[in-house]
Amino acid sequence: MLPWYIPAPQTPLSLAAFSFIACQGARLAHASTTPVPAPPPPLSTARTAPSVTAPEPPPPPACDVPPASPLARLRAAMRNSSFTQMSAYFDAFLVFFSDEHLSEEPAAEERRLEYISGWEGAGTGAVLDGAAAVWVPAGDVPRAVATLSCAWQIFDADDPNQPSIAEWIAERLGRRGRVGGDARLTSHAEWQAHAAAMQQLGLQLTHVPTLLDQLWSEEPEPAKRRPDFSKIVANLHHMDYVGMSWRDKVAAVREELRAVGADAMVVTALDEVAWLLNVRGRDLPHAPLLRAFVVLGARDLRVYAPPGKLSMPVREALAVYNCYSTNCTRVNDYVNIYADLRRATEAKILVPAAGTFQRGASAAIAQSIPQNKRMFLLSPIVYLKAQKNEAEIRGMRKAHLRDAVAMCTLLCYLEGQNKAGMSEMSVGKLVDMTRETQAGFVGAALRTRVAFGPSGAEPAYRASPAANRRVFTNSTLVIRSGGQYDEGTTVVTRTVHFGVPSREMRHAYTTVLRAAAALGTLRAPAALPAAHADPVARAPLWAARRDYPHPTGHGVGAALNAREDPVVLDYRQDVNLHTLREGYFVTSEPGWYEEKFGVRLGNVLEVISKAPMYIGFRAATLIPYEPKLIDKTMLTEYEINWLNSYNERIRNEVGLSCGPKG
Ligand SMILES: *[C@@H]1O[C@H](CO)[C@@H](O)[C@H](O)[C@H]1NC(C)=O
Ligand SMILES: *[C@@H]1O[C@H](CO)[C@@H](O)[C@H](O)[C@H]1NC(C)=O
Repeated sequence: MLPWYIPAPQTPLSLAAFSFIACQGARLAHASTTPVPAPPPPLSTARTAPSVTAPEPPPPPACDVPPASPLARLRAAMRNSSFTQMSAYFDAFLVFFSDEHLSEEPAAEERRLEYISGWEGAGTGAVLDGAAAVWVPAGDVPRAVATLSCAWQIFDADDPNQPSIAEWIAERLGRRGRVGGDARLTSHAEWQAHAAAMQQLGLQLTHVPTLLDQLWSEEPEPAKRRPDFSKIVANLHHMDYVGMSWRDKVAAVREELRAVGADAMVVTALDEVAWLLNVRGRDLPHAPLLRAFVVLGARDLRVYAPPGKLSMPVREALAVYNCYSTNCTRVNDYVNIYADLRRATEAKILVPAAGTFQRGASAAIAQSIPQNKRMFLLSPIVYLKAQKNEAEIRGMRKAHLRDAVAMCTLLCYLEGQNKAGMSEMSVGKLVDMTRETQAGFVGAALRTRVAFGPSGAEPAYRASPAANRRVFTNSTLVIRSGGQYDEGTTVVTRTVHFGVPSREMRHAYTTVLRAAAALGTLRAPAALPAAHADPVARAPLWAARRDYPHPTGHGVGAALNAREDPVVLDYRQDVNLHTLREGYFVTSEPGWYEEKFGVRLGNVLEVISKAPMYIGFRAATLIPYEPKLIDKTMLTEYEINWLNSYNERIRNEVGLSCGPKG
């Protein structure tokens, strides 16, 4: 059987499942519902595309995997003891997406799945001798189908009707075989789930930390070789923005640890490390974080960072020299964390469990700690970090003001500009360039997403050179972006229209605006779980029998991650029912997705206290809505007042001539 060949399914598949499994045909099947992704250039001239409409089993297309390609090299390495460093070989290998901290968006030098498969989004890959597949989130399936070569099968990781990784491997290996994977790069819970499912099917999962990294470092083609880690040192985060010394933070965490009976904790999430130590680095693409682990004991603090990554002021502030007392920090090499955890003397060590977005500690971290010492709990830093202090609140407000100036300038410019020749990607570039002009700007807080017309139908749409729609004046343009500033982090989505919108578009936009108004003006008992506030935002959409597939909102960090735990505004959420607290910052991002266009409006809201035991919101984002898309006849007096006072705040606080009129 040729490696590209996908066996005929035993049971009839749904249309969706069919289109994901077919290789080239998938692109054709999807073309009618998704934005015209141009087929990627053929890997070899011999490759031909089977047609979806072919009546008989399609003629085998030649889907050569060149012997020097990463996929072919991985297949060879699985059977080569100089890579596996074990006498045995592997029949299958799992390729994970993230880094050792399970960051939502890992740096280029951590993107092993992209190196092997070409898929740059989240997901998990599995490679066998004769087949390869990748499991991606539901929203990413169309893009994966459009970008991956026919050597890869694509599965929807969120669809229980599609085979699991263990099932898929077992089906091909005949319920016998050894599976390798790097346990540093996936969560403890996921690793355990894979291992258990595989064991039931006669497969054995083994931690192989070096194979893939060695393969990547020895990549013969320089352009594909693993990039070096960033050498930029981490600096102190300015005291004006942090509002609390690292010693006080350490003391606060110790108190939480005592309360749950832990003697120590290992801090694995990079935003928690940055928050705890009051440092900011440049090791991740969209967040100012330092690649380091911290072990916080009852009496000592150990930082595991690559040599030379802490600036002199950081080393002084952390008192790393002559550290013998409790008020100082010991700095060790990053790679020693695993060995040191094995030798840890504490009786109970808190190992971060997964939250909603944060995935907790990796399997390798958890397994380094002897089993009887592990205590899996959500990191107490999640709550401490989410609740911004006065300095952080001031910083977040200031960052949003800077961001408002940038976005107002941009929207103004776009409005006056001739749209001829504009594309989604060129608008995206303008967004990024406009933010860069702001003082205190550090970088984009997320990858800028611009979607015009039918592209807006897909919440997860991202333009790429292969699928880059031109921008015209006859549909909506959705711009989702955010900025990292010294003072704080912003996320904003606006939908604009450069021509005369249809009634349908105005109706959709105004409904979404009413959702924003409903949540923005909510007052609720402080005991209300954030997830339970979600129906308030969705009510105007539900009344029109509409819904959107993503959460309405999530926490936002202060010069940390654009998306943070613990709260999520999503009615589907039945775990992690955390309440909103004064000082949290959350997004409000309702949307309306039509086949021909999309509407999404995203603000950041500050949680404020309203009378004793009640909370409310104050908009941090101060960027006008698109007047052309608002159908005033749909708004109640209450909503019109809300809109007017929002616009007044923009005029007073941002004070741009291009602000809202009237
Ligand atoms: C450590 O620092 C805290 C607060 O800065 C102080 O109260 C405490 O006395 C110090 N302890 C030692 C042993 O120096
Ligand atoms: C918008 O205008 C462009 C160019 O004139 C055209 O190709 C496209 O089909 C139009 N879209 C809609 C939804 O009318």
